[in-house]
Amino acid sequence: MKLIVAKNYEELSKTAADIIKEEVIKKPNIVLGLATGSTPVGTYKNLIKFHEEEGLDFSKIKTFNLDEYVGLDGKHPSSYRYFMDENLFSKINIKMENTYVPDGKASDLENYCKEYDRSIEEAGGIDVQVLGIGSNGHIAFNEPSESLSIGTFIASLKETTIKDNSRFFNSIEEVPTTAISMGIGSILKAKKIILLANGKNKAEVIQQLLDKNVVSTNLPVSLLLLHPDFTIIVDEAAYKK
Ligand code: GLP
Repeated sequence: MKLIVAKNYEELSKTAADIIKEEVIKKPNIVLGLATGSTPVGTYKNLIKFHEEEGLDFSKIKTFNLDEYVGLDGKHPSSYRYFMDENLFSKINIKMENTYVPDGKASDLENYCKEYDRSIEEAGGIDVQVLGIGSNGHIAFNEPSESLSIGTFIASLKETTIKDNSRFFNSIEEVPTTAISMGIGSILKAKKIILLANGKNKAEVIQQLLDKNVVSTNLPVSLLLLHPDFTIIVDEAAYKK
């Protein structure tokens, strides 16, 4: 595991985007795993800037998003598809058909989850996976639990997650209680993983992750410590020692 402590959110975002830029230049048909939430927004802004100012080319890349709320279609302003279109896809030269976000309206959800993993494999697997972290240590929607799903699955959201994510909805009642989420195995199959965490709300969970030196399904993010190419980028607020 490699730890990078950035001064602030701006530096964190620039550092993450620089790593992704380098990988895209190295492999123009790269497969990126992408995350939603407030954390990666700055990284995406930098990627848009690289595209506009330096002509960074996304025309050959494919992306797979980690998750989507069950029941929301891509036009819903709180859906992750809408978020990705708004914050990245519509502002770079990616082909929309190369952007995969789970379909929250899929009818046969169980089968759909299997198909999602199959599509990732068919694309050659994820080269670089970008991740945020929930304040309870979840990644994607792999919530702390006795056991974790290996493949893409239907996740039940914990109360803390519903509360944390309610800021993206009009009211807490509107937050869906289930989501399609890549499993911990789907995530660990990525060749390179970059985890981003900023702000004091994440300090406690980052401290747990770094201090304990154990893996536990009750702290899903800790399983990433087993990955051979895992980089954590935090800002100073999320890294209080
Ligand atoms: C959601 C997403 C996660 C994300 C987390 C943190 O629960 N499913 O993938 O990492 O939110 O969000 P934020 O970056 O807004 O703190």
